[in-house]
Amino acid sequence: MKHPAPNKILILDYGSQFTQLIARRIRELGFYSYVLPGTSSIQRIEDFGAKAVILSGGPASVYEAGSPKPAPELWTYLDSKNLPVLGICYGMQLMVEHHGGRIKAADKREYGRMGVAVEHPCALFSGIRNFQAWMSHGDETSKLPNGFHLTARSAEGAVAAIAHEKKPLFGIQFHPEVTHTEKGAEILRNFLTGASGLKADWEMRSLIDTLVEKIKTEVPADAEVICALSGGVDSTVAATLVHRALGKRLHCIFVDTGLLRFEEGNRVMALFTEKLHLPVTRINAETRFLGKLAGVSDPERKRKIIGAEFIAVFDDAAKDLERTLGTKPSFLVQGTLYPDVIESSPAPSSGSAGATAHHSHTIKSHHNVGGLPEDLQFKLIEPFRDLFKDEVRGIGRELGVPSDFLERHPFPGPGLAVRILGEVTREAADTLRHADEIYIEMLKSEGLYSKIWQAMAILLPIKTVGVQGDGRTHKQVIALRAVTSSDGMTADFYPFDLGFLGRVSNRICNEVRGVNRVTYDITSKPPATIEWE
Ligand code: XMP
Repeated sequence: MKHPAPNKILILDYGSQFTQLIARRIRELGFYSYVLPGTSSIQRIEDFGAKAVILSGGPASVYEAGSPKPAPELWTYLDSKNLPVLGICYGMQLMVEHHGGRIKAADKREYGRMGVAVEHPCALFSGIRNFQAWMSHGDETSKLPNGFHLTARSAEGAVAAIAHEKKPLFGIQFHPEVTHTEKGAEILRNFLTGASGLKADWEMRSLIDTLVEKIKTEVPADAEVICALSGGVDSTVAATLVHRALGKRLHCIFVDTGLLRFEEGNRVMALFTEKLHLPVTRINAETRFLGKLAGVSDPERKRKIIGAEFIAVFDDAAKDLERTLGTKPSFLVQGTLYPDVIESSPAPSSGSAGATAHHSHTIKSHHNVGGLPEDLQFKLIEPFRDLFKDEVRGIGRELGVPSDFLERHPFPGPGLAVRILGEVTREAADTLRHADEIYIEMLKSEGLYSKIWQAMAILLPIKTVGVQGDGRTHKQVIALRAVTSSDGMTADFYPFDLGFLGRVSNRICNEVRGVNRVTYDITSKPPATIEWE
């Protein structure tokens, strides 16, 4: 993609869990940032044409065989362009090692919040003296590199920051990108605007114009474009953007699997047509999906069946569209995000970046149910391939997508099928929908919805004895789940006030036919997953 702002910042990734946070902080400061693997070829780095470079942290040790290293020509290239460089943690250690300093295993690992004192004036610490910083490292600088001096020291007496005497090279042993570091954003801003002399030149609005222009140029004037709307944030915002670029040449297909939440199909259709004016065809495929799922209880089989049926339904709809238009749409819009790109890229050959990519890849393959296969023979339009979720939300807001839609909890591709334990029937789906609606509505009305990352009701395949009115009942159980999380990889159960849970339980047992008991899931992830199947 043509990068949208001249003052581009390149982040070379050495496997830190915080690399994406660095990218996000840089964008929050008004600069366009881009992450490449730390081992990228010099050609790839030169082609990007950064105005400043950040070397990320990482869990390896620079002195270990096989630890990830930059291309051998990197430092010559950076020198020849006099490019400002900020090395963070492992990134600083690479800088130290290359310039003749020494890194060794520290006697004591520095981990957590720690005081840092600035000892020598430095552009990075302009206006900053003492602050608390987040440390996470087991190695330390035992000999300063040639031409560098120490600029800050940790409370333990270790080297916390260095700067070159003449060149714009800076190293910090702590993590300015995490919120635990006081003045972290200020230090990054000092690097970009002070030390590097760059002016912030990136904002969401200009990005929308650039993306619209790019779509207009890349899609030939006679080409038709198709998009599968899922009712999720990414595909909705992507379709809205492409619609702005191409107007009537965009054709959206919304597959209602019958496994959506209460009134979900009608609600998202109203949003698409009345609010966003997207040209969308709704395919009511409940009978098809429930037919294929009849008699199936195994979670993995359910996922596979839904995935395959989704593709079959979409394919049929695309053929119908082709007949109506008299031509085959040649482009497909997808709401792929940058983290998806990283997660599905092949693992690098060495270093921890490989482990991260591989790990994420495994998780992804489980989550892409409801996606489309690569051999559909469309050219892809993926306007958000370089962006993060919160930025897509920002674009959505600019494009007039209502914020309550943009802030919705995640919802899995296989929908309620993985929340109905055992066989999926229309009756079970209706029962669950009703209970879920009561729960979500109460979360919203009691001001809790936005504090929670994801909440759901689950229908259990067991019956328990109860007493309602004058009689004994034998009905099903609803489990409630609510978790806080930042990315869904780990999660903590939400510590509701018991009064709230009691009120939800009362309403569900009184109003939902077939349910006489409600329980709350108090398990975090790990050991449990967020979904029950
Ligand atoms: P788990 O249950 O693995 O879920 O802890 C983590 C996050 O992923 C969502 N999830 C899915 N999303 N297709 C999806 O599109 C799936 O098959 C799927 N399974 C889980 C889940 O809702 C949570 O947000």
